[in-house]
Amino acid sequence: MTKSAPVPKSVSKRAQELRDDINRANHLYYIESAPELTDAEWDALMVELREIEAQHPSLLTPDSPTQKVGAPPSSEFAEVVHPVPMLSLGNVFDEDSLRAWHSRTLELAGLDEAAMVCELKIDGLALAVTYRDGVLAQAATRGDGLRGEDVTPNVRTIRNVPLKLDGDDVPPVIELRGEVYFPNSAFERFNREREEAGLPTYANPRNSASGSLRQLDSTETARRPLAMFFYSFGYAEGGDVPGTQWEVLQTMRRWGLPVNPWTRRAETIEEVQAAVEAAGAERAGLDYGIDGVVIKIDSLALQNSLGSVGRDPRWATAYKFPAEQARTRINRIHVNVGRTGNLTPWAELEPVNVGGVTVRRATLHNKDEIERKDFREGDSVIIQRAGDVIPQVVRVTDDNKRDKSSKPYTFPEKCPACGEPTVDTEDDAAIRCVNAECPAQFERLLEHFASRGAMDIEGMGERVAQDLARTGIVKRLSELYSLADKQEELAELEGMGEKKIANLLEGIKRSKQQPLSRLLFALGINGVGGEASEWLARHFRTMSRIQSATVDELLEVDGVGPVTAQTVQEWMNLPVNLTMIEELERAGLTLEDDSPEPPQDHPMRGLTLVVTGTLETMSRSDAESKIKALGAKASGSVSKKTAYLVAGANAGSKLQKAEQLGVPVLDEETFTRFLEGETPVEAVTG
Ligand code: IVH
Repeated sequence: MTKSAPVPKSVSKRAQELRDDINRANHLYYIESAPELTDAEWDALMVELREIEAQHPSLLTPDSPTQKVGAPPSSEFAEVVHPVPMLSLGNVFDEDSLRAWHSRTLELAGLDEAAMVCELKIDGLALAVTYRDGVLAQAATRGDGLRGEDVTPNVRTIRNVPLKLDGDDVPPVIELRGEVYFPNSAFERFNREREEAGLPTYANPRNSASGSLRQLDSTETARRPLAMFFYSFGYAEGGDVPGTQWEVLQTMRRWGLPVNPWTRRAETIEEVQAAVEAAGAERAGLDYGIDGVVIKIDSLALQNSLGSVGRDPRWATAYKFPAEQARTRINRIHVNVGRTGNLTPWAELEPVNVGGVTVRRATLHNKDEIERKDFREGDSVIIQRAGDVIPQVVRVTDDNKRDKSSKPYTFPEKCPACGEPTVDTEDDAAIRCVNAECPAQFERLLEHFASRGAMDIEGMGERVAQDLARTGIVKRLSELYSLADKQEELAELEGMGEKKIANLLEGIKRSKQQPLSRLLFALGINGVGGEASEWLARHFRTMSRIQSATVDELLEVDGVGPVTAQTVQEWMNLPVNLTMIEELERAGLTLEDDSPEPPQDHPMRGLTLVVTGTLETMSRSDAESKIKALGAKASGSVSKKTAYLVAGANAGSKLQKAEQLGVPVLDEETFTRFLEGETPVEAVTG
């Protein structure tokens, strides 16, 4: 590049004017909800600023509003260690447990009363944003609370997150925390567009926020309408910080940060209870999901002295709302054939809005549930949605009216997909189609095989999987890997242009590199979920060893119980499955776990350890990975089988349990030496 010409003063002045005007307009638009510019006027300012910056790159500052459009893709996220751990929250579900939290807290503080602040609990994901000299310098996800992912370029694209703070009292370094969310109003259209593009859809706005934030290509994040609410200070260097949570909120507002407008101060539990009810009443009208109210002790000094138990602060709690319910009508009852042949009934509903998401279908669980609750077509019913789970039909309404034609629902005796007779299994409530060639089962298997947690095939969402199965283009899993020879047939599928085909083929090709654990999960063996497949892969390391494992050998694997062991053993020995695995191997899939073998003679090998509390030199999940890599087990709960409890700072109930059971307790240093091969001589207690 040639040396750039000096920038005329008038131009740099104009660039500064434009930046100020645009930032001001953004603030009015996103924070005050009182825009002064029309979209066209705003666009014109942006165009002018972009032009100046293109001609004079030296004028491009990191806080320029043009930087909200995204940076080039990176290959992965860097790790960020949180200077102050990002905590989670304990829950209460009713007035009694709220009172219990309150009196416990006051007692610990040695006080008769303490002012509290109530805030909405935004159902998004937590983010820590650091400003240096008032300019957005870094943004990190919560991760495991100690370490998160650096998502700075993505957060720069969030419209209501200022790139620069306003005010002369902003500390030189300040980390601010809050919640990122995906507005309800944009969610459905966004999902529809993804479905049309053959991409996997998101289950709810929360997952959508998380998926949008974790894009490696920030220009993709920029296209999504993410927004954020800030609720606390994480870490500050220099400058004065306020003494109460209430002032923290005011201060952040003053600095131009979006703070949720719904906040209440409370002195008593009655006031808190009233606030929770008020929030519940407003919930349906909000453009973002909330799952409760967070109650915080107002004084930050008091918060500090109360501290935390494990990851939960003693100074705050979340009052969780009950699952969201709505009233609607069952238009029809359908039966779906699952991957393993289970027939699952579901209700086609009169569409109804539940917590910002339009619900059109809900599960009826199984035949017994329909009989027990006497659900019929035409009934008026209560449905509910709780967190991530599929909406369910809870009960028939009290004032449900049935006309003469209403009949109890009769469950089909033949598989709705292949017409073969179904089998009523005795051990569980399931009705099953046992026809190994049932087309619906293959369709489900193909959907599952390509899905996110499984082979994660890009360009192969549910719609594409269904089309491939229904048209018979793919009749066996291995045929996916020779689709490149069937481009003409693919082009005949609805919505499959050249670009999508190329994308699909590339996604399929890449899936060959998925590790053995993914493949095991993708095969859809009953009872083998993401975790069991990881354990199996780690234990046996090759597909052929799993194929020849006995039930007893399978039972040695963590997370595999007698039922799963039996199922895996039978599945692996079915001739059709043997052939299928052979075919997949020939197609070039990974059938071996190539992570290093654990050393044979490490003293930790074969032992079960539990890690609790906050460690200084590594996160809990790192500690657990290290334990597993040495051929030992990392368990989540203390029992008589626990060889050692590794206790970091603020260890809670697990430490007590270990002491009760006489399980030796290791401090971090002893544990670190143990990792290096030194057997703990004397267990350190307390
Ligand atoms: S305070 C130290 N305030 O809820 C306590 N958290 O279940 C945690 N959340 O990880 C931070 N709205 O992601 C706080 N007004 C609010 C919140 C909030 C949502 C989330 C946050 C946290 C999780 C804990």
